[in-house]
Amino acid sequence: MCGIISYCGKRPAIPILIDGLKRLEYRGYDSAGLSTVDNNKMVTIKTVGKVAKLENKTAGIQNSSTFGIAHTRWATHGKPSEINAHPQSDCTNKISVVHNGIIENYLELREELQKKGHRFKSQTDTEVVAHLIEDNYEDDLEVAILKTVERLVGTFGLAIIHSDFDHRVFIVKRGSPIIIGIGDDEYFAASDSNALAPYTHKMIYLSDDEFAVLNSNKYYIKNMKNQILEKKIEILEEDDYQVDKKGFEHYMLKEIFEQPESIKNAFRGRIIINEGVSKLGGLEPVVDRLKDIKKMIIISCGTSYHAGLVGRYIFESLTELDIEIELASEFRYRRLKLDEDVAVLAISQSGETADTLAAIKEAKRKGALLLGIVNAVGTSIAQITDAGVYNHAGPEIGVASTKIYTSQLVILTLMALFIGRYQSISFSEGNEILCALKKLPDQVKDILKNDNQIKKIASKYSGYNDFLYIGRLYNYPTAMEGALKLKEISYIHAEGYPAGEMKHGPISLIDENFPTIAIVPIDSTYDKMINNVHEIKARNGKILSITNEKAEKIKKLSDDFICVPQTIPILQPILNIIPLQLFAYYVAREKGCDIDKPRNLAKSVTVE
Ligand code: G6P
Repeated sequence: MCGIISYCGKRPAIPILIDGLKRLEYRGYDSAGLSTVDNNKMVTIKTVGKVAKLENKTAGIQNSSTFGIAHTRWATHGKPSEINAHPQSDCTNKISVVHNGIIENYLELREELQKKGHRFKSQTDTEVVAHLIEDNYEDDLEVAILKTVERLVGTFGLAIIHSDFDHRVFIVKRGSPIIIGIGDDEYFAASDSNALAPYTHKMIYLSDDEFAVLNSNKYYIKNMKNQILEKKIEILEEDDYQVDKKGFEHYMLKEIFEQPESIKNAFRGRIIINEGVSKLGGLEPVVDRLKDIKKMIIISCGTSYHAGLVGRYIFESLTELDIEIELASEFRYRRLKLDEDVAVLAISQSGETADTLAAIKEAKRKGALLLGIVNAVGTSIAQITDAGVYNHAGPEIGVASTKIYTSQLVILTLMALFIGRYQSISFSEGNEILCALKKLPDQVKDILKNDNQIKKIASKYSGYNDFLYIGRLYNYPTAMEGALKLKEISYIHAEGYPAGEMKHGPISLIDENFPTIAIVPIDSTYDKMINNVHEIKARNGKILSITNEKAEKIKKLSDDFICVPQTIPILQPILNIIPLQLFAYYVAREKGCDIDKPRNLAKSVTVE
């Protein structure tokens, strides 16, 4: 989704802005643009389509400006076009604004400003910000920006420049991500730290309603009352970046193959096998409160929601807690009692998903204990929660989440064990889980060795237009996540269903052109899954099953099967999803799809 990069220093700004935009491309966008100031004149260049096109447009331009702002836009208000691309400007073209988020009261503000004579060019909500600053400006630009922000309803990360103010970039944050990068006599702002990887590892994470002014040799941060704030500078580690493809054709494939390592990173230093406990430093500050919690509500979106669905079963099997799971986008509509007995656990790779953030804010208002599982360090959800655990899985660039999903499942297991060991889980149960966890990286490696077999099967199935994915218990979410992977990147219709529900509807779709992918591990659901597969076979449906080596019955029944190693049932979804990730990848590749940047999707969804 929209990405922002800004620079203020001594080097020519345009190459840095373009490079930063390229690093933000993975977030998903449809147009791009930048503004710098040259000889006191605002220079704005925009394009529909890729950043490379914007780069070509800037190639012949003589512009040595050393400060500027740039943006990749993911259309919300107004279709992708040059006029609607950011930066947006005021009537005098002295003010340029880039924005991530949504200004909810933009229509009302637009009408008010139009009555005063302001002329609007675009259909965007963002343009009102530029005009409102123009309108509020008397003699102090900072005051004008603060007055403007006071009028805005919605969420925003903003970067603003004014052609009368050399070497000054103004940054505002409310609800949308924007961070400050500190270099040597140069300062940056960006939607995420990846964009700044080659320039600085020193970051300041702004909180909501904070305002930063970047100059070429100093910066300061204020609150909305215009008071200067002291903010901590965080230093990111090399592992928090690493954004090249390392020889893989796509980021998605690289990330699938990184799973032995990302799974290990999720539990590294966090397990004490001979005590059968997990050690989660991030939860220690709230451990007393956690011991009193009666209920946990898990909230998340997309793949993180599917992780939460598995998490529900994991928590149910390891703790005494009542567990509920809710899509973050639905959470706020529910009338829930959230007092100090309740913990709300947000799961988010990006730490910035607007729906999850809004839901967690709602839970905060009602007094619940807020917990998080977040991959991107220092992000809004990590900041707002009372305690939590980082994935430490490194950046995930492919829009379709893979390594973060399996990492989330590991952390959910560690969290459930952390709580469960204060309740009834015994040492030997804890020990068994941790021993099984430790084996996962090697078992994942074994599955990845089957890459070629999965590729061949994917090729065989790539011509179908519809797929049903079925599973039960822990692997009902696996079916949903497998189906999501396929539809996200190959644009093939796929539905994930609990196998028992099949007879209440989806079975009517089954014929020889509608294959089913059945997730059939050897566990308590095995016999029932076999029955479901029989029902499909009786209707000429094709079956591809994901199962275990010793599962002779299902292997015989299936048209094709992929075997994964067996682990304890609560961890089996971690292994079962891997062939389904590869299957989706190879089907999409066979169809020639843009795998890392599928149409209409965004990696970090910062609008509700
Ligand atoms: C988008 C991404 C998905 C992700 C979901 C939730 O839809 O494309 O990969 O699962 O957002 O994102 P989060 O960052 O909160 O996990």
